[in-house]
Amino acid sequence: MADPITTDDRTTTSAPTAADDRTRAYWNTRHREQDDLTAGGHIGLDRPGHEIFYALRLGTLLTLIGDLSNPPSPLFVLDAGCGEGRLARALSRCGHRVDAIDTSSEAIAHARAKGGGPRYAEASLTGWRSPWLYDVVLCVDVLLHVRDDAQWAASLRNLASLVRVTGRLIVSDEDGHARTALGDSIVHRTTAAYRSALQPLGLHHTLSKPYGFRENPVGFHVFTRIR
Ligand SMILES: C[S@@+](CC[C@H](N)C(=O)[O-])C[C@H]1O[C@@H](n2cnc3c(N)ncnc32)[C@H](O)[C@@H]1O
Repeated sequence: MADPITTDDRTTTSAPTAADDRTRAYWNTRHREQDDLTAGGHIGLDRPGHEIFYALRLGTLLTLIGDLSNPPSPLFVLDAGCGEGRLARALSRCGHRVDAIDTSSEAIAHARAKGGGPRYAEASLTGWRSPWLYDVVLCVDVLLHVRDDAQWAASLRNLASLVRVTGRLIVSDEDGHARTALGDSIVHRTTAAYRSALQPLGLHHTLSKPYGFRENPVGFHVFTRIR
């Protein structure tokens, strides 16, 4: 197992707000009570459904990232909001060098216990700092759980800053035209909102690829850093 990344001043963030605390509490409970298959998946799916959901998305991610792996010079990947590390471990097995962060201490504790290659750290989307830039920054089914628009924008700004020029930022949300809030834990933003937030930062919208899983309307948005 690679050394865990310690929480030090590279991973500090601004003082947590009450909303941050509620988010962490929600996810800590979910990660304490469920395993790596169901905690980060989709409420309502059974275990076989979750297996298919993860396998399909991993396959799609690999087509987006590319199917080459080169042990002496692996792709540097950040999985931001990694949950208990299911996708991060799979990408690590595919030969990539993976850093994986999550704001939930329970998620990171479970992920570290499983090991499997990635370096894990407890950090938020806005708080993670890295001494290196990444070829690929992934943020899978996380931003749609960030309800506060200012925090959503700040998260995108930080993630964008971590992508090397010509690298990719892959986020997931609906490919829609209307902002929709579901219950008190999900807000879908429009594809145009992602473009407006990322284009000024040098990230060009390359393509959107739906998960294609049953009736799930979410998919990957791929942004390429051009400057
Ligand atoms: C639906 S799960 C997805 C987990 C993983 N990406 C996957 O697909 O298996 C959402 C994860 O995002 C994390 N999360 C939510 N808000 C976050 C934030 N602001 N910074 C970092 N992680 C966050 C939660 O703790 C949770 O583990």
